[in-house]
Amino acid sequence: MNRREALTTMGALGAMGTGILGGQGGIAASAHAAEQNRAQTAFASSFAHFKEQLGPTKVSFDRPLPDQLEGVLYRNGPALMERSGTPYHHWFDGDGMIQSFRLQGQTLTHLGRMVNTTKYVEEKKAGEFLWSGFGTAIANSKNLQRPDDINVANISVLPMGEEVLALWEAGSPWRLDADTLETLGRKTFSTETDGLPFSAHPRIDRDGRIWNFGYMSGSNQMALYELSPDGKLKRASIVQAAKTNMVHDFAMTDQYLIFALMPIDFTPPTNGNIPSFLSMLSWDDASSVDILVIDKETLTIAHKFEMPPFFAFHFGNAWQDGGQLRIEMARAPEFETLMTQIKQATLGLPTTADAHAPAAADIVLDLSTGIAQLQDLPFTGADFPCFDERYAGERTDTLVMMQRSDDMPSDVFGLNTLAVSNKRKDSLQMWSYGASAIAEEHIFVPGLSATEGEGWLMGTAYNWKSGHTSLSVFDAQHVSDGPVATATLPYGLPIGLHGKFVASNA
Ligand SMILES: [Fe+2]
Repeated sequence: MNRREALTTMGALGAMGTGILGGQGGIAASAHAAEQNRAQTAFASSFAHFKEQLGPTKVSFDRPLPDQLEGVLYRNGPALMERSGTPYHHWFDGDGMIQSFRLQGQTLTHLGRMVNTTKYVEEKKAGEFLWSGFGTAIANSKNLQRPDDINVANISVLPMGEEVLALWEAGSPWRLDADTLETLGRKTFSTETDGLPFSAHPRIDRDGRIWNFGYMSGSNQMALYELSPDGKLKRASIVQAAKTNMVHDFAMTDQYLIFALMPIDFTPPTNGNIPSFLSMLSWDDASSVDILVIDKETLTIAHKFEMPPFFAFHFGNAWQDGGQLRIEMARAPEFETLMTQIKQATLGLPTTADAHAPAAADIVLDLSTGIAQLQDLPFTGADFPCFDERYAGERTDTLVMMQRSDDMPSDVFGLNTLAVSNKRKDSLQMWSYGASAIAEEHIFVPGLSATEGEGWLMGTAYNWKSGHTSLSVFDAQHVSDGPVATATLPYGLPIGLHGKFVASNA
């Protein structure tokens, strides 16, 4: 029995004891306590039945898939959360597992395999965690020689021909065979950039070029990358900038790469122990967000703005409208509340109130006046913004996000509702997976029409009562009608982070 199963059992036993002692009122109270415990451990339960490989498993969709919708959805996320009784304390610590969902005919074929990073292989051999991670300090942690020593390759994917890259935030991508998900090795783009961080949210231009960055906490430096559509390194550059201590995502227009550098201080350890990365970070509410607008031609800072403090993990689309830049994002007042909530959810503990949940907003940057403003969008408690990437860098009207429905138990960490706004139509469509589901990021898959926002939305949801994960496909224009097709696996998957779809005819 692992820690999370023990937590669930202990909660149930405690509730049973109350019921036996308390008569019928006690039985009602015990049922309530058991239900509450189950809600608290809903998120953590997705990691409770770890296996190095899941599938291949074939299941049928409940209704016909749209014509021409064939391909593979790749997703990445933390999966291994415990070794030899030592639990990770934070979701982002978990060693990464890649899931592939192949849609062919009316069949879904699922395969999940761990990324055999150096860390994963060495710790598996040792039978214990050897290094402190993002949010967990490991006793007697080995020293870090390079960031890739603790690379867990657990955030996102970048499909590239016959390979899929498993992306982390602070180190190299890992190469996987796109069919078998076998780990092929660490990716190097050039000798000069070998081992430099390559972040997990690359942006794809309309001509297929790939832009990315990598930051080095405490260095006041960021690396910038431009890759050709087939993944060859065209340019790499270093920019000097303060506050590059934790940078997760960026935005892109036709002309610019835009970074929001948040007021997060980094304090390295001084006593020789290796703490968690998170414990070295602190939020400075008296500081500002620095917005860097970097010219794609020169890879130098063209404009700089200051804004009052906010925290954003994720950005949507961005575009230029006359002399203004508009950037979509999911922003929160600060980042420590969310970090605490993730730790509580990972350990199956009650989560604190959600008062600081992210909400959607546009940043509007006026290039001539130097004034930056926030404009709220109609999403609260929302994250994972997504748009029609055929129009990356141009104005888009459709914005997709995940949020919570009112009936989602407050003790359950996560999101359960797909929401799509259309600025042009001034409409907002929503569809909830229900109170017992935790829905993951949904992504836009273009349809046959070239019209912006017309296509499909595809994503997974974990039902913590049944223990099963399903994949659903929606018509992006009619989300409130519910999925057009759903396939449910006979098992649950660890709740993950980000994915990409590769169409068969791409
Ligand atoms: Fe992310």
